[in-house]
This record gives sequence, structure tokens and C-alpha cells, in this order.
Amino acid sequence: MEHLNQILMPFIKVIHVISGVFWVGTIAFLTVVLEPHYRKQGRNILRNQMTSILPVMGPFLLIATLLSIISGAVMISILGYSWLTTLNGQIIIIGAVAAIVAFIVGDIWVRIERNKLRDYGGYLATQTLEGNPPGVEDSNKVKRLEDRLWFLGRLNFAILLVALTSMTIAQYL
Ligand code: HEM
Repeated sequence: MEHLNQILMPFIKVIHVISGVFWVGTIAFLTVVLEPHYRKQGRNILRNQMTSILPVMGPFLLIATLLSIISGAVMISILGYSWLTTLNGQIIIIGAVAAIVAFIVGDIWVRIERNKLRDYGGYLATQTLEGNPPGVEDSNKVKRLEDRLWFLGRLNFAILLVALTSMTIAQYL
């Protein structure tokens, strides 16, 4: 078993690091490059571009996220209980908890808020068809929902940086 784990571990780590790079890299690109670039061009452009890219990017991001979490969990089970009590193990666990919190914020919470925004957009479209175009109050609500989404995106990135930092420095502590 010990011998098998020594062969398995590098393979799992490669899957873990590649999927982690994809996960954090995508969020970094989105938060640091894409969003500010489209934001400068106006709220409508930002909304249209993001609405077009998210459905394409979403499934790849979800697969990378799940691969990273599952491979991490497999490595923890191989490294065992005595590893968990070392400083290296505890720093990795801090990183793992941060990554899982980032998943909850960046995937689950963002999804809930995005659905709220989509439903409200649908409601406004129906109201408009019935001859009641959106007023200032409605636009402000859409703005608030969108701003919350962007805040969650940045929060997600910040938590991911904590996860990545813990994972990379753990072996030197
Ligand atoms: C943001 C997502 C993540 C990224 C970018 C990431 C990145 C990394 C990197 C680069 C390493 C290699 C460190 C080294 O060998 O010096 C590593 C190792 C590790 N990660 Fe992660 N990780 C992430 C999430 C997770 C999660 C969610 C778990 C657990 C469920 C986890 C568990 C582990 C374990 C157990 C190791 C191996 C430690 C060792 O060999 O001593 N990681 N991770």
C-alpha cells in the first residue's frame, strides 16, 4: 500500500496543481484583467460580455474546481492522520479550507445572486411588455445586484490567494 501511494501521489499532485492553476488563473484573469477592461467601457458592455462568456467558461471552471478539491482530499487521505498534526499539514488544511470557502462564495453564492438578477431581469421584461417600463427604483435594484456580484467575485479571488499562498509556502514552514 505504502509503495502504491508513493507512485500515486505524484500523479494526483500533478492533477491537483494543474486544475488549481486553471481555477485560480481563470478567476485572476476575470477579476484583474477582463472585468476592469469592460467596466471602463460602461455597465452595458460589461454586462453583455460577461453574460456571453460565463456560460462557456462555467463548466470548465466547475470541473477544474471539483478536480482540485477531490485530488486534494485524496492526497490528505494518503498523507494520513500523523501528517495532519505537522505544521506543514496544518498550513495545507488552512489553504484547503480557504479554497472550499472560495468555492462556496465563487460558485454557490454567485450562482444564487446571478439567478436573482436573471429572475428580476425577466420580471422587468414582462412589466415592460405590459406597458410599465422600469423606473429609477428598478434600475437601482439591478445595479445593486450587479455590484454585489462583482464584490463576490473580488472576495472569491482574495480567498483563493490565501489558499494558493498557504499551499505554496507550507513545505517551507
Ligand atoms: C485554490 C485551489 C488550490 C490550489 C491552487 C492548490 C495548489 C496546491 C499546490 C501548488 C500544491 C503543491 C505544494 C508543494 O508541493 O509545494 C498543493 C498541495 C496540496 N494541496 Fe492544494 N491547492 C488548492 C486546493 C486544495 C484543496 C481544496 C485541498 C484539500 C481538499 C488541497 C490539498 C492539498 C494537499 C493535501 C497537498 C499536498 C501537500 C504535500 O504534498 O505535502 N488543496 N496544492
